[in-house]
Amino acid sequence: MDDLSSSTIGLDELNALSERSATVIERLRDRVYAPNTEKRLEISFNVRSAAEMVGRSEKLIRDAEADGRLPEPSKDPVTGRRTGYSLAQINNMRDLFGTRPARADTDEPVVLAVQNFKGGVGKSTVVCHMAQFLALKGYRVCVVDCDSQASTTSMFGLNPDVDVNEDEDTLYPFFRHGGPQSLHYALRATYWPGIALIPSNLGLYDAEYEFAARMVRDHSFVLDRLREGIETIKDNFDVILLDPPPALGMISLSVLRAANALIIPAPPNNIDFGSTAHFLKMMTATLNEISEVGGSREYSFVKILATKMNDNKSAHVAIKRMMDAVFPSDMMQAILKDSAEIDNAAANLKTVYEITGPGTRTETHKRCRTYLDAVGRETEIMIRKTWPSHHSDLRKEGIL
Ligand SMILES: Nc1ncnc2c1ncn2[C@@H]1O[C@H](COP(=O)(O)OP(=O)(O)OP(=O)(O)O)[C@@H](O)[C@H]1O
Ligand SMILES: [Mg+2]
Repeated sequence: MDDLSSSTIGLDELNALSERSATVIERLRDRVYAPNTEKRLEISFNVRSAAEMVGRSEKLIRDAEADGRLPEPSKDPVTGRRTGYSLAQINNMRDLFGTRPARADTDEPVVLAVQNFKGGVGKSTVVCHMAQFLALKGYRVCVVDCDSQASTTSMFGLNPDVDVNEDEDTLYPFFRHGGPQSLHYALRATYWPGIALIPSNLGLYDAEYEFAARMVRDHSFVLDRLREGIETIKDNFDVILLDPPPALGMISLSVLRAANALIIPAPPNNIDFGSTAHFLKMMTATLNEISEVGGSREYSFVKILATKMNDNKSAHVAIKRMMDAVFPSDMMQAILKDSAEIDNAAANLKTVYEITGPGTRTETHKRCRTYLDAVGRETEIMIRKTWPSHHSDLRKEGIL
């Protein structure tokens, strides 16, 4: 008989496996980022797009450049051709013309959690693309990575193991007993103008244990700590996006308590939709239970977003139809369809919004942008509806 120990896998083998997988990650990162360089945003806009984004005519922009209210447009030193405007320059124009769509100080910032306890439904994908969609429009956005897997942190160009210190840079210090009074320490600017990030790394997972241990004697600290933290930074932003981990743990609960709006991504297939139904049930039961001890929370909107839908799969189409029938007013109209473009971009730690060059002219890319823009636009409207200062404009736009 074979010696069993030679065919079983022990800690040594697991260690070796983990080291080898770390090498794969390193190689992937080396491929994406040259060593010691920071991720940069390379998209630029011609004057026609700039005019559209700023909400003023090309002529007004040119006039402002001619009379020095705006800097001269940059030119390629070799060809002398205009190189196009960066997003930072577009925001500069918006500030000059007063066309930033920001909320008024009297409007409440939207704290939007993209939440589902099921893993892999597209939470982080929606958060990253939503942040960039809103930042392209000129909103001030903060992304809070509440997931120790840190996929959103990686997407924003940081290596969670190298660039993020668990004792200093993530939510973790704030979650600890006697931690800082405000979350400002964790906010950092990203390569996207208009997006700040609170990054994450594996160390954040310890907060789950510490919260769980503390829950019995001090439930209000655990449940409302994130909400208190968001309070300390929210005035700097129009929208704060929370990307939670895929589990019903303490951090997920505190995300549900910190948010004032929810989007629930749900792929229309049996298994994922089953989990989503379960999520809704558990979420409601848990929130009810918590409200008895910690007070209730209200959301400005709660919407289900069909994600990763494949029109060619009849089961997807059937389940989506059922979702529409069961939740007639809870489903978003927009659908984030399954798209190879999202996966391909993610393989290079990119979003679809930052792809440049010939890649943007493919049909797959254009279709994917259409899905993403539709999700972004619909969310933007839900957000603006929560801001009284936007109501008269929304009426003029025929939306309210
Ligand atoms: N619409 C889509 N089309 C194609 N691929 C997608 C789509 N949405 C997400 N993906 C891919 O599915 C995978 C999981 O997505 P994502 O990480 O956003 O899910 P998640 O819910 O945040 O997962 P987790 O629960 O692990 O945090 C990723 O590889 C992502 O690129
Ligand atoms: Mg995620």
